[in-house]
Amino acid sequence: MEIYEALQERRSVRKYKTDPVPEEKLNRVLEAAQIAPSWKNKQCWRFIVVRDQERKQQLADSMPENNPARRAVGETAPIVIVLCADTEGSGDKDGKDYYMLDAGLAFQQLMLAAYAEGLGTCWVGLFDEEKARAVCNVPPEFRVVAMTPLGVPEKQPSPRPRKELSEITYAEEWDRPFTG
Ligand SMILES: Cc1cc2nc3c(=O)[nH]c(=O)nc-3n(C[C@H](O)[C@H](O)[C@H](O)COP(=O)(O)O)c2cc1C
Repeated sequence: MEIYEALQERRSVRKYKTDPVPEEKLNRVLEAAQIAPSWKNKQCWRFIVVRDQERKQQLADSMPENNPARRAVGETAPIVIVLCADTEGSGDKDGKDYYMLDAGLAFQQLMLAAYAEGLGTCWVGLFDEEKARAVCNVPPEFRVVAMTPLGVPEKQPSPRPRKELSEITYAEEWDRPFTG
């Protein structure tokens, strides 16, 4: 698949079929995350693949009732991947903690690869971290950064709006319009 197709067409998917995810697809998606760039190549990320129905429901229970991805995590998607990051396993510079960035880059690669495999994902950041930690026995030196359902989308969601390029891009210096 052409990379721009994945970049353009990936969506946050919150409705899934209950069809299983083939092992080889799951492995390729995880390998896409494995090869992400990271601070000094420290690879501070860890991924927990959750298939057990009861555990998925417990992860959904760590999310607020109004989180729109809750049903996907607890009921429909066959897999939930929990993203953890070692807070001491990356680096920091001038107050910038890079473990979040490293973990985010890896998850973005995972989400794009999932799209290329015909699978859906949805970054879930709104959950009670300590509840999710207890569900998956994550040790204290790791943050539970995010989770995503992984499965076959029920349908391709519509695109969400984005800011205009002119709103988010400057030429040469702050506030000087970028005209392309
Ligand atoms: C850091 C982060 C946290 C997010 N948390 C949630 C969440 O808890 N629940 C949810 O349904 N979507 C969540 N999203 C998905 C965003 O709502 C979604 O990416 C955004 O609306 C753009 O839509 P798109 O991904 O389909 O392009 C999160 C996305 C990011 C990057």
